[in-house]
Amino acid sequence: MTQNSQVTYLKDYQVPSFIIETTDLDIRIGDEYTSVVARLKVRRNSASSEPSSELVLQGSKDIKLQEVMMNGLILDKSNYDLEGSVLSIHQCPEAFELTTECLIQPQLNASLEGLYKSGGMYCTQCEAEGFRNITYYLDRPDALSVFTTRISAPKVSYPILLSNGNPVEQGDLDNGEHFAVWHDPFPKPAYLFAMVAGNLVRQDDVFTTVSGRKVDLQIFVEAHNSHKCDHALESLKRSMLWDEQVYGREYDLDLFMIVAVDDFNMGAMENKGLNIFNSDCVLADPATSSDAMFERIEGIVAHEYFHNWSGNRVTCRDWFQLSLKEGFTVYRDSQYTADTYSAAVKRIDDVTLLRTHQFAEDAGPMAHPIRPASYIEINNFYSVTVYEKGAEVVGMIHTLLGDALFRKGSDLYFGRHDGQAVTTDDFVAAMSDASGIDLSQFKHWYSQAGTPTLAITDAYDATNNEYRLTVGQSTPATAECQKKLPFHLPLRMALLDTNGLEMPLTLRDDDSVQGDNLLLGNSCVLNITQAQQTFVFEGVMEQPTPSLLRGFSAPVKLDYAYTQEQLLFLASKDQDGFCRWEACQRLLIEATELAMSAMNQSSHYQLGDSLVTMLRASLVDETLDPAMVAKLVQLPSEAYLAETQTTVDVDLIHTGREAMRLAIATALESELLACYNRCHDIGLFSQTGKAIGQRALKNTCLSYLNALDSVQYQGQYQTIARDQYALQANMTDVGAALHILIGQNNSELAAPLLAEFYQRWQGDAQVVCQWFAMQCGANRPGLLKQVQDLLDHDAFDIRNPNKVRSVVGSFIRSAINFHAVDGSGYAFVGDMILKLDNFNPMIAAGLAKPLGRFKRHTPQRQALMQQQLRRLSEAQLSKDVFEVVSRALDSANV
Ligand code: PHE
Ligand code: ZN
Repeated sequence: MTQNSQVTYLKDYQVPSFIIETTDLDIRIGDEYTSVVARLKVRRNSASSEPSSELVLQGSKDIKLQEVMMNGLILDKSNYDLEGSVLSIHQCPEAFELTTECLIQPQLNASLEGLYKSGGMYCTQCEAEGFRNITYYLDRPDALSVFTTRISAPKVSYPILLSNGNPVEQGDLDNGEHFAVWHDPFPKPAYLFAMVAGNLVRQDDVFTTVSGRKVDLQIFVEAHNSHKCDHALESLKRSMLWDEQVYGREYDLDLFMIVAVDDFNMGAMENKGLNIFNSDCVLADPATSSDAMFERIEGIVAHEYFHNWSGNRVTCRDWFQLSLKEGFTVYRDSQYTADTYSAAVKRIDDVTLLRTHQFAEDAGPMAHPIRPASYIEINNFYSVTVYEKGAEVVGMIHTLLGDALFRKGSDLYFGRHDGQAVTTDDFVAAMSDASGIDLSQFKHWYSQAGTPTLAITDAYDATNNEYRLTVGQSTPATAECQKKLPFHLPLRMALLDTNGLEMPLTLRDDDSVQGDNLLLGNSCVLNITQAQQTFVFEGVMEQPTPSLLRGFSAPVKLDYAYTQEQLLFLASKDQDGFCRWEACQRLLIEATELAMSAMNQSSHYQLGDSLVTMLRASLVDETLDPAMVAKLVQLPSEAYLAETQTTVDVDLIHTGREAMRLAIATALESELLACYNRCHDIGLFSQTGKAIGQRALKNTCLSYLNALDSVQYQGQYQTIARDQYALQANMTDVGAALHILIGQNNSELAAPLLAEFYQRWQGDAQVVCQWFAMQCGANRPGLLKQVQDLLDHDAFDIRNPNKVRSVVGSFIRSAINFHAVDGSGYAFVGDMILKLDNFNPMIAAGLAKPLGRFKRHTPQRQALMQQQLRRLSEAQLSKDVFEVVSRALDSANV
């Protein structure tokens, strides 16, 4: 498998030797071949350190090159070389016009990179390196060019022809063809190019920008989805307004378009003026989409829109800088959601995602810094690390600078680099220049992988009224870096008195507190910069309870030996929503660990009274935000529990957690039922934050109550779930009830419900995906057979990534099935990876990542996982899967 191992290094970066000033594309769609004529106005780059007369363009083996012309003259074969996928033009003058004519076959492109066909429409996905599948080009993010695109196609089948920028011309041609010409005035790299040709309907809206410009907003979808566009349009308008108000960023074209496509590798893509979305990430209506999907869609619409500045106007110099646009934009969309809905709930969701998936990545063979130093296939680095940890890093800069200086920094960044392709160093420099705060040590966050642990100890001196807090940091070695330098990070904290009130804080030596937000009321932000540091607070009149890492102010593991009393106290008194929830979570994790050891010794697990009291207090408190209550009483997921264990025994985690569920339901049955009833009886369907929170809470209660049915009742709570299902009120309630009912390991109950559900919704691809996911991700053993049968279901299509994710992705998430001790789950996933890798390497590699994370599993499972990895390594693999598999196997040898 060595032919695949060509590595690209950050240290080898060179500015391009040529500049493509303008790119004129003429794309003629035909049944068998699509022809692409690219007319490029090229000149040598005076800034290049390696001047050359050889222009090297990237392409792909699937392109058929027909002709090459320079300044209007056909080039003889001796003037260029076509080797594999690379086209080199010899002896180029200072400035010239290069025209290539190529033939491609988008209808055969199942990798979904470049120009491809999804259902009846043609569409593109060019990030990261898809443009080279369309034509020969300088396919790198620092090659910015002004694009003009002419598209022609048969008019009846493809009445809608779209590309970036503004429409300039359109008309009819002979033979039932028509054409459209689009011009994008903003220079952009090829990865932001997009075009669409299809039979689509349009939903319109308008947004007037802060300076009074009218922007047309258009969403294009297949006709049967036209009723599912409202939420995306509303989300878009809210995002546009928010970006003006919070970042001072105005939209720059007169038209903003979104197109929904069914076959898409990721969530969505921020192509200039023409965002292309996975249908599932844009279409919604309450009957078919849950509240969680509505929220996700709003976040993604906002994310892609925000890229117009953080990504498009200011783009990346090279793909190592991916977090420059992704980390910053995820941070921006999280802020948007926090401002628009509940900030505390959003923070809890983000931290849960980070700690469950990013911490796992950081501890596995694919660990990489948010700015990786090398890659084999860049597609593998569209990772939770680059995205979510990248967002945390921007968030830490915000915390260190405070609101005003952070805004000053972002203004400087956008102003200084508008129209440029830059690096994460440029981003940090703008933040530091604007604020006067030294961020040089902070930059280690960009170059060092791994999750730091903050070990904190404290001591109270009652005679001198002093409280000492000692903070140590350490970060485990990762493949790219054995010995880590200390990070600079903000530790937000407060000291609570016996009533739970925040004490006024005075630091003996306040050198280590800087910035203008650092004394916010009575909470402060400590600058942690050393391997070990001590802070002394003066005038502390009683033994305080420390509230540490408020708002999860840094992406670290906090190691402080909280007593159970302290946690119970924080869980009821802490004003910081995150810390309050975190205290609950710690108590629930400790209790689950006790349940696990009880199960391990086949003894009975007894839930502690204080924990019951704590959970009860949340359930009965009607003044609390119901969404927050749902978070407070939910058990940590099996995946997060696994993250907290040194050795992972998935079966024990499952049985321990189930025992906890049952114990909580038994102890709090009447409170859970009362809470369910209270939240269920809320009249007409609405999507206010409160109504959404009430649905989340009631479905949490219903899930607990149904744990009781399996033991001591005859289906009393099952009946409530069935009634809720039968109401068919909205997909949040229907989906939750169905999920509960089919999770009960009772096929007599599940089979007819699943059949009925499918019957009702078979015409809706989004709901069919939920139907697949519910069955394939059910949290009960013995699923594999059913999952394999579903691969033969009429509605399954291995070429559609959403279906693959719903079936195979969901199966992997069901830990007890994926990690079945006989290795059947691993073998199944191995089979699927090999099948998928033949045509969609990006999706195949995504499924291979979980197989590589064998390190903390039981020895038998480790061996079985490695066996599958070795089996994969013997096959002919794509670069994508090769990189994931080889890094995993290498990690077995250290
Ligand atoms: N850039 C896209 C985003 O907004 C993600 C993406 C990457 C989409 C690669 C498709 C392919 O995050
Ligand atoms: Zn993005």
